[in-house]
Amino acid sequence: MKFKLLTAFLLISGFVMAQSFNIIPQPKLVNGKEGQFSFNNHATIGVNDTSLTELALYFQKEIGKAKGLSLAVTDNKSKAAIDLVLTNTAQSTGSYNLIISPEHITVSSSNKEGVFYGLISLLQLIKLDSIGDNGNIYLQACEVTDSPRYQWRGLMLDESRHFFGKEKVKQLLDWMAYYKLNKFHWHLTDVQGWRIEIKKYPKLATIGGMGNYSDTSAKAKYYTQDDIREIVAYAANRFITVIPEIDMPGHATAANRAYPEFTGGSVANYQNFTFNPANENTYQYLADIIKETNALFPAHMIHLGGDEVAFGIKAWSLDTAIAHVMVKRNFEGVNELERYFFKRMADTVSSLGSKVLAWDEATGTDLPADKTIIFWWRQNLPGQLHLALQKKYQVVLCPRLPLYFDFVQDTGHVSGPKWNGVFNGISSVYNFPDTQTPPEELNNKLIIGLQANVWTESIESEKRLDFMLFPRIAGLAEAGWTAPELKNEQAFNERLKASFKNYDNAGIYYYNPFDPSFHPEVVDFAPRIKIPKVQRYASNRISKRSHAKGRGRSKKQQKVSYASVERIHKKRK
Ligand code: ACM
Repeated sequence: MKFKLLTAFLLISGFVMAQSFNIIPQPKLVNGKEGQFSFNNHATIGVNDTSLTELALYFQKEIGKAKGLSLAVTDNKSKAAIDLVLTNTAQSTGSYNLIISPEHITVSSSNKEGVFYGLISLLQLIKLDSIGDNGNIYLQACEVTDSPRYQWRGLMLDESRHFFGKEKVKQLLDWMAYYKLNKFHWHLTDVQGWRIEIKKYPKLATIGGMGNYSDTSAKAKYYTQDDIREIVAYAANRFITVIPEIDMPGHATAANRAYPEFTGGSVANYQNFTFNPANENTYQYLADIIKETNALFPAHMIHLGGDEVAFGIKAWSLDTAIAHVMVKRNFEGVNELERYFFKRMADTVSSLGSKVLAWDEATGTDLPADKTIIFWWRQNLPGQLHLALQKKYQVVLCPRLPLYFDFVQDTGHVSGPKWNGVFNGISSVYNFPDTQTPPEELNNKLIIGLQANVWTESIESEKRLDFMLFPRIAGLAEAGWTAPELKNEQAFNERLKASFKNYDNAGIYYYNPFDPSFHPEVVDFAPRIKIPKVQRYASNRISKRSHAKGRGRSKKQQKVSYASVERIHKKRK
């Protein structure tokens, strides 16, 4: 009997313990301790180094929002209830220790990122597990030791197809910080709109910024350089690096609307899709754009795109000026010209002291390995990943399956792509990359991390953006942070379910995979006809000039344009 009682007690207390340390992503080590720490409005936050004051202020604000407390920040360490400590013992970036004892809380690290992440863990505990009672907050005592698995834990937002604006981006950055994600890849230029002000070429924003995926005549929407500086600073306060993408030489339609003198020509369904590689002025024009862009982003990393140029490159074969350049330079085909173009622009980025980031098509270009990061997105081409690693490039994994968050996330959902019927549920996000990547590649140190990409052809409203992001963003966070041997999907699901309360409090319209009817799917566009696999990108990304004219296009009309895309593909083969 005694034994049974003891077992029951242990089970219950184990349950309480498990419930008590609700942190996403799961830390490396969490040891429950005896007792509780309690504090109220009179508690103070202390720092042992003035460089931590801004972190203390951040925490102060967040705890104010979450619990209505207004804790004072003090540099008088001895009196503080919550101490932030910068230590001298070197720790890897982002590593931290959090100690909650009945008397005191200490968050320490040898680097500011680490202290910040320790505060985020504390904030999560306070938000979910503390019990308010007469203005008191009670926290279970524990010791947390933590460090990230990957240095690159990214999220990409496409604001060319649809523009969301500063406030939404800031909210996104808040959630990224909450989940310890640290790279915001900003897809600012594409077919449907150019979203970054360039002073030397103002029409890029005022004309290139007009229109979006669902309305080609929408008034111009873009970020001014002041907006960008504001976002970059906001992100930096949350230890998030912002990386702009200026896509080239393809996906250039919006830019070419503004400055048609730099277009690489048109073929059916791919109007002015590329920049002109035969016009010397194109290189100067793009160098000017890169220079202004580089000055706005202290990350000193520029993503140059380089994807899907093949869709528009046929126009190059039809252009006599381009043919002359090809002959002059002894190029055998337009692909060689594409590589020449990309290398030249990459050299421009390098000459500014910045790193070149590019989609995996660039693996075929001879870019210097120490100045380039490749983004592997084509999961159907594992050879691209293999080649990138073989060529010693650092690689960020962002394969369509499972890390494209515009993809459908459950069987019942109708809007957004699938790949051969496969979609991106939170489970596949959570389990990536461990269940999917060959061990010899998985363990390659050149893989610096993961990133989810949110393309927005099918996402127009903030509500749908939330629906596509939450809760997959939590799965991404744990996939990017938590050591593989500590990942446990069932335990994650329990923590996730408990954390839905935070989404509710924040007014987030999230998908609940445990109760699919809780929030029905938000559909911004009528479901499309089934698209043959090979055309997914051609039709989705590009022929949307026509699709964009209206959601009301008939199925017959859609079939016509998809058929013409298919013809192009067949001819190319
Ligand atoms: C991409 O999805 N075109 C990178």
